[in-house]
Amino acid sequence: MSDSAAPPRAPSLTVSRHPAVLHKLAILRDERTEPKKFREIVRELSWLLGYEALADARLRPRRVRTPLEEVEAHELGDRIGLVPILRAGLGMVDAMLELMPTAEVWHLGLFRDERTLRPVEYYNKLPDSATVDLCLILDPMLATGGSATAAIDVLKRWGASRIKLINLIASPEGVAAVSAAHPDVTIHCAALDRALNEKGYILPGLGDAGDRQFGTGRRD
Ligand code: PRP
Ligand code: URA
Repeated sequence: MSDSAAPPRAPSLTVSRHPAVLHKLAILRDERTEPKKFREIVRELSWLLGYEALADARLRPRRVRTPLEEVEAHELGDRIGLVPILRAGLGMVDAMLELMPTAEVWHLGLFRDERTLRPVEYYNKLPDSATVDLCLILDPMLATGGSATAAIDVLKRWGASRIKLINLIASPEGVAAVSAAHPDVTIHCAALDRALNEKGYILPGLGDAGDRQFGTGRRD
């Protein structure tokens, strides 16, 4: 939490305190950071947050022969699904695939109506039933929580039972909305910011995460 308001009650919220995360977050927030650097930092932060979020992924035993002897080792037991929310979540995928190369990637297209702030779904090609054990929803920003809640609704209807939400920056309002609608979903983020402004942007935030990654901000 950066400033005044008390953090929402969300036992399922983890805000990273790792020094590398905090260092990179400052670069991400800086309005002078250009899209190329911004994308690089989104990638690096995603890897670090993913690493923390997957600490409880399930393992199964696997025997391996080293050049010297056999040893009881491990391999991932969970089938992991990465669910980037288009468009801003796209920048988080590559890093998460580096971490979990066997993960499946299922894209969901949602944008926030600028007037109502409600999410509008425009892309969903999920197959009929869930093909993964653990879903990681990837979206840099959790603002009103509308998009995240809609994405979780979709995934639960699909049959996903274990879902984690990975955000770079979350607002107290967004955390409260997701926790109320889906208390079983854990949220991992790099920062829990102060509040939303009247246009639904996170303060202090970083501005529009999609525009800053893809260089599409308004120039007027
Ligand atoms: C942003 C962000 C989230 C959403 C968060 O996407 O990436 O998906 O807003 O806001 P919410 O919590 O109030 O729903 P946006 O709608 O701007 O679309 P974009 O990724 O295509 O830019
Ligand atoms: N979406 C963004 O990209 N930034 C915000 O601050 C809120 C929603």
